[in-house]
Amino acid sequence: MSVLQVPVQGAEQQLEPVFAVKGLWKIFGPRAGKIIGRPEADLRGAELMARTGCVAAVRDVSFDVRPGEVFVVMGLSGSGKSTLIRCLTRLVEPTAGQILLHGEDIREAGAGELRELRRHRFSMVFQHFGLLPHRRVLDNVAYGLEVRGEKKAQRRARAQQMVDLVGLAGREQLYPDQLSGGMQQRVGLARALAVDPEILFFDEPFSALDPLIRRDMQNEVIRLHREVGKTMVFITHDLSEALKLGDRILVMRDGEIVQIGRPDEVVGAPADDYVRDFVRDVPRSDVLTLRWIARPATPDDPLDGPVLAADVVIRDAVRAVLGADRPIRVQAGDEVLGVVGAPEILAVIAAERAGEG
Ligand SMILES: Nc1ncnc2c1ncn2[C@@H]1O[C@H](COP(=O)(O)OP(=O)(O)O)[C@@H](O)[C@H]1O
Ligand SMILES: [Mg+2]
Repeated sequence: MSVLQVPVQGAEQQLEPVFAVKGLWKIFGPRAGKIIGRPEADLRGAELMARTGCVAAVRDVSFDVRPGEVFVVMGLSGSGKSTLIRCLTRLVEPTAGQILLHGEDIREAGAGELRELRRHRFSMVFQHFGLLPHRRVLDNVAYGLEVRGEKKAQRRARAQQMVDLVGLAGREQLYPDQLSGGMQQRVGLARALAVDPEILFFDEPFSALDPLIRRDMQNEVIRLHREVGKTMVFITHDLSEALKLGDRILVMRDGEIVQIGRPDEVVGAPADDYVRDFVRDVPRSDVLTLRWIARPATPDDPLDGPVLAADVVIRDAVRAVLGADRPIRVQAGDEVLGVVGAPEILAVIAAERAGEG
């Protein structure tokens, strides 16, 4: 398997994962549990179907989700993203493997425990908003609180806060069909946040929205993430959305992990041709950081130039680098990784212009 697991740096490493997924499989079809570990498990798509009548939607997948991160799962339609996220919440029962939530396997959770998880610790936002049509905005937002038995005054106050948070103040008394798609999804977001979950799951929440509205909603998620700091698992088939939102991105194909990495790692060091194809048209300077273009200093380099951090995106450093009369020193913590001058910056920009970037 061609998994590129890039080692994490510094403090990130210390944190215990929220989810630790190990060897997860989901096979749909008759006698699915009998296939794993047998030669049939290596068959793909049509061949597996012909031989066994089964579909392997998730194949031997292992990864961690860290506290507070936006963990994006990206892949083409049919690659297994929805099945994977539904396994994490057990809306789909996994066929094999472990899903440790703070060290405890949620596959072993009973019905009562699962209900608690779904009411208190997990929230979901789906593509087709899933709002209740005969309920007003405020009562849609309060729904999860109602389900878990909170008092009316209390849940309304909380719902009102969430309505304000997502920018829908003044629309509390409207019905879903009186709102645009973007506004309906804001209701979806408010409803998910109302229960103050530990983890938010998003399954292509903005795919049905117009591009401009979609951009607004992405910015909204970034803002909310900054404000509420929740762990988020976000599915998309859209690369630019993945790059914009993800702290890390898991790239899936045919149920398998192709690569896990930060956006700059996925763009700067694609694991294979599939990922390379995906990222071909991404402007490198928008995603790659100075770390990627720093070169070792030579004896001729003056070493008293300005200092920039290694994780500054190239685009944001263009002015500083081109405006300085000596190379910029690129630093990670106390360590100087190298220098970046005009030639390094111009090479990236020239490559983009030429369509190689
Ligand atoms: N309930 C199901 N029964 C049988 N096959 C399914 C079921 N759900 C999904 N699949 C199949 O599993 C594969 C992955 O689907 P899915 O997880 O929906 O992918 P994605 O969300 O990436 O589009 C597809 O081949 C799909 O047809
Ligand atoms: Mg899907």
